Amino acid sequence: MKIAVLSRAPQAYSTQRLRAAALQRGHTVKVLNTLRFAIDLTADEPDLHYRGRQLSDYDAILPRIGNSITYFGTAVVRQFEQMDVYTPNTANGISSARDKLRANQILSRHNIAMPPTAFVRNRADVRPAIERVGGAPVVIKLLEGTQGIGVILAPQVKVAEAIIETLHSTKQNVLIQKFIAESRGRDIRALVVGDRVVAAMRRSAAGDEFRSNVHRGGSVEAVELDPIYERAAVRSAQIMGLRVAGVDMLEGEDGPLVMEVNSSPGLQGIETATKLDVAGAIIDYIAGQVAFPEIDVRQRLTVSTGYGVAELMVHGAVDLVGKTLGEAGLWERDITVLTLHRGVSVIPNPRKHVVLEADDRLFCFGKLDEMRSMVPERRRRRAKVRRLPRQPLSE
Ligand SMILES: Nc1ncnc2c1ncn2[C@@H]1O[C@H](COP(=O)(O)OP(=O)(O)O)[C@@H](O)[C@H]1O
Ligand SMILES: [Mg+2]
Repeated sequence: MKIAVLSRAPQAYSTQRLRAAALQRGHTVKVLNTLRFAIDLTADEPDLHYRGRQLSDYDAILPRIGNSITYFGTAVVRQFEQMDVYTPNTANGISSARDKLRANQILSRHNIAMPPTAFVRNRADVRPAIERVGGAPVVIKLLEGTQGIGVILAPQVKVAEAIIETLHSTKQNVLIQKFIAESRGRDIRALVVGDRVVAAMRRSAAGDEFRSNVHRGGSVEAVELDPIYERAAVRSAQIMGLRVAGVDMLEGEDGPLVMEVNSSPGLQGIETATKLDVAGAIIDYIAGQVAFPEIDVRQRLTVSTGYGVAELMVHGAVDLVGKTLGEAGLWERDITVLTLHRGVSVIPNPRKHVVLEADDRLFCFGKLDEMRSMVPERRRRRAKVRRLPRQPLSE
């Protein structure tokens, strides 16, 4: 395959390793400076120019978009997506992961355990929010910090309030998060590629520091991950739309607490700690996926009028509990079940003999009219309420 690594740091360890791994496997690889692309929307088809010339054909890209160029970088990645060039990390995934609040919001509806977190704006809401996450000591985080910068541990509520007020006054958004004391300055970084963890390490903070980032002097060691941690990492990455990701987890009393999902994980620390060829695993994965460029399901499947995708609750308006999928009569109503979600597991292309359980959810493609009649009244009402014109915001 011909692959481009989008990076502004051709000499960096990670870029060098990815390049070497691709060459070693007989691929053609170029490291392209993300900021030298020009997005061209003038022609009939989406196009890209690089350093003033039309870009040649690529099979895949591996975006490594730095924090300071998220907007432009994700625009370039999105353009590659429009051109059907495979990318393991979508523009959407990268921008969602970059914003700690947005990532938390997305993960929280999928039963991923995270440290209790709050986000407020008004001064009067700060103290109740601190109390709600568990009181002092409390962690305060800038939404887009990295490498531990912008992560503060406030020992008392008063100090926390003062810090948050100061940051608000300089127009900085912050998260208020429970301090997970039992993790004792340590965390787990799991490197996810596709649907598995290819390497994992434990990072331990230096001295009395609570942040375990390598850039803050943290030390690293390889770990054998508990399957619960592996699953949490893989699911988090998948939910975020990232096939290559570094998932950071605290070791909470009841298991993993996902803190963040990094879309351009550094390779030096983890390859050194584990002696594993992570770069090689990434390249091999991409080579196996180039035939499947990312498809925006809603965008593609809703083109035919009257058809769309929807999630149906088995315990819904039409009660299907105890029936088999075949007996549910969905296909007869022009509804195709794409996946069945049961707890944290997913059954793709479920067969007709599968017996439905109360908490199952069916992700379907089909006739909207038919599917609407299967959504319980309460949810339908809620959906309607949401569509009413909103009150203008006071800001
Ligand atoms: N809620 C928390 N409780 C305990 N330690 C935390 C908490 N949040 C962050 N940390 C520590 O601070 C480090 C940096 O936090 P993180 O949210 O990953 O920000 P960054 O993006 O800057 O790496 C983590 O690796 C962890 O060691
Ligand atoms: Mg981190």
